Amino acid sequence: IPLERIRNFGIIAHVDHGKSTLADRLLEKTGAISSNQQNKQILDKLQVERERGITVKAQTVNITYTHDGKTYLLNLIDTPGHVDFVNEVSRSLAACDGVVLLVDATHGVQAQTVANYNLAKARDLAIVPVINKIDIKHANPEAVCTDLHNLFGLDPESVIKISAKLGIGIEEVLVAIIKYLPPPKANREAKDFRALLFDSWYDKYRGALNLVYVNDGKITVGQEIQHHSTGKAYPVRSLSLLRPNEVQVDELLAGQVGLIGCNMRSSKEAIIGDTVFIKSLNVPEALTKIKSQQPMVYAGIYPSDQSKHVALRSAIEKLVLNDSAVTVSIDSSPALGQGWRLGFLGLLHMEVFCQRLQQEYDTEPIITAPSVTYRLRLKNPKMIKSNNGKDMIELSNAALFPEPINISEYYEPLVRGTIMTPDEYMGQIIALCVEKRGIQEKSVNIDNDRILMHYILPLSEIILDFNDRLKSISSGYASFNYEDYGFHETDLCRLDIHLNGKSVEELCRIVHVSKAQKLGRELVLKLKDEIPKQMIQIAIQACVGSKIIARETIKAYRKDVTAKLYGGDVTRRMKLLKQQAEGKKKMRMVANIRVPHETFINVLKR
Ligand code: GTP
Repeated sequence: IPLERIRNFGIIAHVDHGKSTLADRLLEKTGAISSNQQNKQILDKLQVERERGITVKAQTVNITYTHDGKTYLLNLIDTPGHVDFVNEVSRSLAACDGVVLLVDATHGVQAQTVANYNLAKARDLAIVPVINKIDIKHANPEAVCTDLHNLFGLDPESVIKISAKLGIGIEEVLVAIIKYLPPPKANREAKDFRALLFDSWYDKYRGALNLVYVNDGKITVGQEIQHHSTGKAYPVRSLSLLRPNEVQVDELLAGQVGLIGCNMRSSKEAIIGDTVFIKSLNVPEALTKIKSQQPMVYAGIYPSDQSKHVALRSAIEKLVLNDSAVTVSIDSSPALGQGWRLGFLGLLHMEVFCQRLQQEYDTEPIITAPSVTYRLRLKNPKMIKSNNGKDMIELSNAALFPEPINISEYYEPLVRGTIMTPDEYMGQIIALCVEKRGIQEKSVNIDNDRILMHYILPLSEIILDFNDRLKSISSGYASFNYEDYGFHETDLCRLDIHLNGKSVEELCRIVHVSKAQKLGRELVLKLKDEIPKQMIQIAIQACVGSKIIARETIKAYRKDVTAKLYGGDVTRRMKLLKQQAEGKKKMRMVANIRVPHETFINVLKR
């Protein structure tokens, strides 16, 4: 197929606006799948995707479609919609020449629609606007058209109205893709092969597979390729197209999207955005610059008991093979034992990872509440030897927080949040943002009853429950999206928890000064609930430095497990005492106080 009859496109949409359903319909219309596989959403391969109904890993399909007697090759690059996966969206867009912008006719433009539109615009991509779900009774496609016009300046005449579910308007979408999206700017005449690596996943038998968009020349099975950023070379063992199942081919040509199998051992070697070329002495220019993705959210993961340590380690290792955005380091805690500290791109990324850990590997790990990384400028850099004399340290583990007297400046990561809401909830949402230390950047009325607001918010404040609270305030109508806004100066402190005057390291945390009091109170009350009464009185204190900001006391008494027994059945009595003794083994001693394993789990976990 000649270049001018190829279209590389993605579908961008807010979660649940029907992207996977539309993709399925496009595949059916073009005969790539049979229509009796109704609603299978075959692009969402992973189990968690099915269950949560969200697309996690971008999947790609090559389809052919005949229009006006000419056959076209359409490469559909399915992009994930959620905030945490902005990286995957932008990497998929790198291989596209245009996008279908899909909007739900009942919900209209949402926060993510705006964010995705901006990504597409930044890449100068052509856009086919489509309104979905027109079959729903209260759908209001005209209002959505007005939104699209007001927000993005899109011509209402150019908007296609469809029902992906019922298969209405699908041909029109295919025709618009051919008519309004440009063919790839690839070079078939180029002597040397050059391709963009934009996705990779791990296959048990063939190693990390490379999904590439061929920019120049062609590649044939048996040739040797090299990766620009790592310099490593690999023999090409297999080439395939995805339709949507893999179809082996002998060569891939410029303009095509295909999969290279080259026995790559680890997906860490497949760097997204890398340039792949024929191994040669003259290294060609890279196609794009690689922007590395930094984890934004961290969580500790521990086995529920240490005998499961090895199984959990192998499960984490396997999953990380498939998700190079996750960072892993070894961690240990006196209460929870040996474990790991994992870094994620965002909260959803973390949840999806943990869910996969449980589902695919049948493990039940303890996952601690998420935290972020802070930066501290030291007054005397020599104080911390491991930092090699640099005056800025990065830190997410509160136990390593230096004495405040040694710190001159504190920095925390901020995000720019986009909130889209019906205006009746605006007051409560503003109150939520203020509580979360947010600062409003701007707010725009997009139509008679909806508002778009931009807030600068601390990441640490939104990773816990921001989205849930936003949804409950607005009965699910408000939507939220965020992007990185860099580190900014702030005021932090370490909140310590003391039991009878002794600090419990694993319970300490880094908090904003204005939040210490409230959080201290909450923790102290929670511990009072959790720690069982004992022979001695227990003072639970929350402290910042030497200042006590909250305190509760648990009165002493001896728990007599045999108290409920009448009569003198000795064996039963012995059994209960033995159970109690075993329970004690699982406790950690802090200043002569026995703190059950469960207490730590309940206080530390999400
Ligand atoms: P993410 O992958 O999470 O971004 O979701 P998505 O955009 O792929 O949405 P999906 O295709 O999973 O559709 C979400 C829901 O909307 C599903 O329950 C679909 O059955 C439903 N849906 C999709 N298209 C239509 C439509 O045209 N009409 C109606 N009534 N429902 C639709």
